Amino acid sequence: MSGRFDSSGALRGELRPPPDKSISHRAALLGAMADGETAISRFLRSEDTAATLRAATALGAAIDEERRSDEAVDVRMRGIGLRGPGEGAPGEETRIDVGNAGTLLRLLPGWLAGQGGGSWMLDGDESIRRRPVDRVAEPLSAMGAAVSCRDGRLPPLRVEGASLAGIEYRLPVASAQVKSCVLLAGLLAEGETTVVEPVPTRDHTERMLAGAGADVRVGETSVTVRAPAGRRITVRRAERLEPGPVEVPGDFSSAAFAIVAALLVRGSEVRVAGVGLNPTRIGLLGILRRMGAAVEVIEEPPSGGEPRGSVIARHGPLTATRVGVAEVPTAIDELPLVALLGCFADGATVVEGAEELRHKESDRIATVVGELRGLGADVEERPDGFTVRGTGGLRGGRLESHRDHRLAMLGAIAGLASREGVEVAGMESAAVSYPGFESDLETLTRR
Ligand code: S3P
Repeated sequence: MSGRFDSSGALRGELRPPPDKSISHRAALLGAMADGETAISRFLRSEDTAATLRAATALGAAIDEERRSDEAVDVRMRGIGLRGPGEGAPGEETRIDVGNAGTLLRLLPGWLAGQGGGSWMLDGDESIRRRPVDRVAEPLSAMGAAVSCRDGRLPPLRVEGASLAGIEYRLPVASAQVKSCVLLAGLLAEGETTVVEPVPTRDHTERMLAGAGADVRVGETSVTVRAPAGRRITVRRAERLEPGPVEVPGDFSSAAFAIVAALLVRGSEVRVAGVGLNPTRIGLLGILRRMGAAVEVIEEPPSGGEPRGSVIARHGPLTATRVGVAEVPTAIDELPLVALLGCFADGATVVEGAEELRHKESDRIATVVGELRGLGADVEERPDGFTVRGTGGLRGGRLESHRDHRLAMLGAIAGLASREGVEVAGMESAAVSYPGFESDLETLTRR
């Protein structure tokens, strides 16, 4: 399915972005791990998070859904307890289809690894089969589980549960998914499990585990000449989890598309409301401020352990900036948008230290550079990012989504800001995280 996005008049109005994808995945997993019932309000209805609900059901959790809108559903879950999957899986291998959901693929093995006697096979679509899983196989094996994958690196991923021992694990890549996986395994391991992350990554798992009664402690690592402060997160073995009611905020990564569209299209002013403002997620706002963008943040009282509020974005001139390794994890999913902003900014915008982008739903360095160049951008690939020279605008043309939801939505925003419009091939991929994306854009561009 393709979508056509033409240079629009100003974008105006207010938008409530869909519920946060990362928090929805975690809420469903913790709900399944819990003893008793967990109420999740505004759970994201998308292809990715539906895969997590299916996995939770396959493991024995009972789920009741009540639709709130096209994008949000209230979920009641009856969990099976931290050690529940082991009890339900004597000897037989259970297959779990994760679809396109990288977060499910990386987090779930942490829970399963601690289920002695159980054995699971995680697999998904064509794109998930290119996502590295050795990054979770390695720490889980070190904790005592038998974990194997194709060519030692890729899904399908086989997890045989065992009695685990706590470890101290220094993340070789700054990945919230790997951190979360090890922390979940730590709940079932003897003693303490510590994850050391070189630079802070999204911390929803730590917040939610603490809220569910787990013993989680977070400290800073020391600053060195070469590295900024990272974090040490320690979790102790737990008997049970009791997440209180969860209220999922709007997804900043989804809101970012409307924010950037407003900055790029002349005369625009857009307010995104009810959006999560967790500091480990909003690196884009710092980048935008350096670019001179007119963005205003209005904080609301945090609820459910997550900061939230509104962001107002207005069109205006932009100047180029440099994004380095310390900033990458807090803006990881928004870096394709930084490339688009760079096309309109005065000077050369450089993103470096972001080789992780090569392991997303597509190789987002190659696809972003290739596709933006196809629309007339002056952009160059680096091994660890890209350099974009601003030319004051973008011609437009045709963009292929490579079955990557964020690339499809990037193409749509590029179209609105371009001179000739953009035809996005594979627009349906947006449904992975943002099923109402096109109708939300229409609301903002409607006269
Ligand atoms: C996510 C973490 C990030 C991000 C992904 C979702 C999460 O991946 O890119 O979209 O929910 O933990 P990594 O932690 O692998 O960098």
